[in-house]
Amino acid sequence: MKGVRKMDIDCYWDYARALVESRGPAWRYDETKPCGANFNNFFLARVYDTYHRRFRDYKRETGQIVELLGIAPSATVIDMGCGTGAFAIHAAEHYRKVYAVDVARAMLNRARRKARRAGLGNIEFRRGGFLTYEHPDDPVDAVVSVMALHHLPDFWKLVGLHRLASMLRPNGRLYLSDVVFSFDGARYEPCIRQFIQKMSLDMGPEGRAASETHVREEYSTCHWIMEGILKKAGFQIDDVNYTNEFLARSQAQGRTESEP
Ligand SMILES: C[S@@+](CC[C@H](N)C(=O)[O-])C[C@H]1O[C@@H](n2cnc3c(N)ncnc32)[C@H](O)[C@@H]1O
Repeated sequence: MKGVRKMDIDCYWDYARALVESRGPAWRYDETKPCGANFNNFFLARVYDTYHRRFRDYKRETGQIVELLGIAPSATVIDMGCGTGAFAIHAAEHYRKVYAVDVARAMLNRARRKARRAGLGNIEFRRGGFLTYEHPDDPVDAVVSVMALHHLPDFWKLVGLHRLASMLRPNGRLYLSDVVFSFDGARYEPCIRQFIQKMSLDMGPEGRAASETHVREEYSTCHWIMEGILKKAGFQIDDVNYTNEFLARSQAQGRTESEP
């Protein structure tokens, strides 16, 4: 081609090769591709806290998780799918270091800005996800993930939880909270309508749209499948709290000292 130097073409191919390699094997689920809500969207990231604060109190939620985890202030914690930092920002007051990880740059940017404003220097923000995040430091004392795992289909939930288990020190703790269906499958229609109604009451019309999209396009699963996945990923479940047949809060422990 006229005017294009061989060096430029080589450079382009190097770039294209690096891009393909950085995405990993072609068969791996692409967790950067939004399913349902698009958290890469700058505007969604911007209004996220406004909507969620209508029915959530981040500080109180974090306090409850901190109490349940029962780990020392010297601990390190990964917040997987941290979003705008609902847990990470408040958790940073309790722990030595928090790794705040998310696939969506827009959400991470919001979280980063909140941490800066709060003068917090012990949160490391990393772009990555359940399937791609490579933990660079020593294994952590706990992993927390709130409302994020349902973005993966079930097989990939198993892969993601296996990967998280490998980032935990022996006897490390997992706290997982997500939308999980614990109603009887035969009653799915009235139960789903009830879920959507509750979200509309909590968040208004945006809550209705978000919950309809959630049920239609995201990958919330049944409670018995979720418990099986957790166990198969190597976690010992200590307690699961099911609320309104839609929310599951699980506490689990990773491999013990004696396990490989
Ligand atoms: C509903 S928000 C929850 C955010 C936050 N944990 C909270 O409690 O508000 C879901 C978050 O999961 C992130 N997410 C989606 N798929 C993910 C994946 N495969 N790995 C990590 N994070 C993911 C989204 O980008 C989004 O920030």
